Amino acid sequence: MTTKTNQSWGGRFNEPTDEFVKIFGASVFFDKILAPYDIQGSIAHATMLSEVGILTAEEKDQVIKGLNQISDEINAGEFEWSVALEDVHMNIESRLTEICGDAGKKLHTGRSRNDQVATDIRLYLRDQIDMVADEIKRLQSALLDLAEKEAGTILPGFTHLQAAQPISFGHHMMAYFEMLSRDVERLVDAQKRVNTMPLGSAALAGTTYPINRERTAELLGFERICTNSLDGVSDRDFAIEFLSAASITMMHLSRFSEELILWSSAQFDFIELPDSFCTGSSIMPQKKNPDVPELVRGKTGRVYGNLTSLLTIMKAQPLAYNKDNQEDKEPLFDTVDTLKACLRVFADMVPTIETKRDNMYNSTKKGYTTATDLADYLVKKGLPFRDAHEVVGQSVSYGIEHQKDLSELSLEELQVFDDRIENDVFDILSLEGSLCARDHLGATAPNQVKAAIKTARKSLK
Ligand code: ARG
Repeated sequence: MTTKTNQSWGGRFNEPTDEFVKIFGASVFFDKILAPYDIQGSIAHATMLSEVGILTAEEKDQVIKGLNQISDEINAGEFEWSVALEDVHMNIESRLTEICGDAGKKLHTGRSRNDQVATDIRLYLRDQIDMVADEIKRLQSALLDLAEKEAGTILPGFTHLQAAQPISFGHHMMAYFEMLSRDVERLVDAQKRVNTMPLGSAALAGTTYPINRERTAELLGFERICTNSLDGVSDRDFAIEFLSAASITMMHLSRFSEELILWSSAQFDFIELPDSFCTGSSIMPQKKNPDVPELVRGKTGRVYGNLTSLLTIMKAQPLAYNKDNQEDKEPLFDTVDTLKACLRVFADMVPTIETKRDNMYNSTKKGYTTATDLADYLVKKGLPFRDAHEVVGQSVSYGIEHQKDLSELSLEELQVFDDRIENDVFDILSLEGSLCARDHLGATAPNQVKAAIKTARKSLK
């Protein structure tokens, strides 16, 4: 980067800006990624200005040609970014003036960097939300495939991380599918408010020029226009909404990560993650570490931090624009990049998860996970639920003492606890019986899981 002097606001200054203050105040290091949106916004603004007679048709053409040339220069890596020009907006405007002289100097008529930057971020975020939503859907589609393959695979379902009841692995995967569906809904909803145009708010109060905001909005594909100029330049709640939605998605990925980490440990041994998504230890030769889910779990903290940053940056700011707002960008950009990367790595990894069905099955057998089924069985035979609970508790205690699962006790042993128990009890004490008995909308019976997958596939299209 060079340090060309900034003349765009220097008129009233008698002293040059302190060298370190130039660097301290500059945002070009990170806001240059807004360049395509800045150019898009400027082209629309110039078009509107010419339509209302503020720019001549020739000036407009010069400006648009110049902006397209700048876009090419940036894409080719030939654009010379200058720290002294502070930000992406002034870098582009200064180059435009080099290219097309006075026409370039007229572009900023009826506009301020305050409404310009707010517009740029919204254009950027509108695009990014589409990309994030697509990546979530790719992960969801991978989850559906895995769920379908494993609809009949039994593992222990946990509460309090204690084995609770047998569930289908497919059902478990579909729980994450549901969370991610809500995540997409939240993003799409937030996108409506992102898709609102601040341009025309100018510095804070609007402008004296006869601008046509509806036309600029139409050119930029904005659904709505910010209807208060002070709010237009200073509002960042659209970005906070995105950061909240992103935090929630990361929280979901973090829960999923935690389970993958636990399941791939030797102690659980329910799944195998492929070597390509794990790393070894430099000291312990036996290790295969689930780095990818661990990192996603870790990066969740970073995204929460970004949400807290922006909330705190906005807290107590008086209207309208303040330089504080420049600090909105890094948390936002970092969240977009982090979220996209985490979703990408998960969407790539999920299809490679290998399930260890026997281990899951045997582990389910160990936890007395069909105890509720025995209680329900006794209720159906006329015992009040509380009494049934007590009877089953005693049989579990007996099982623990004799190191046998309930299904491994003999009819005689079971009848000691309640003489209503008959031979048909063994149908419901099996893991398969327990699983298949939960056969209603939203429950874990494999045919319900398959039906849920079918509905979900339709919703993804
Ligand atoms: N770089 C600034 C930002 O990111 C652009 C707006 C500057 N406006 C101003 N009045 N200094 O917020």
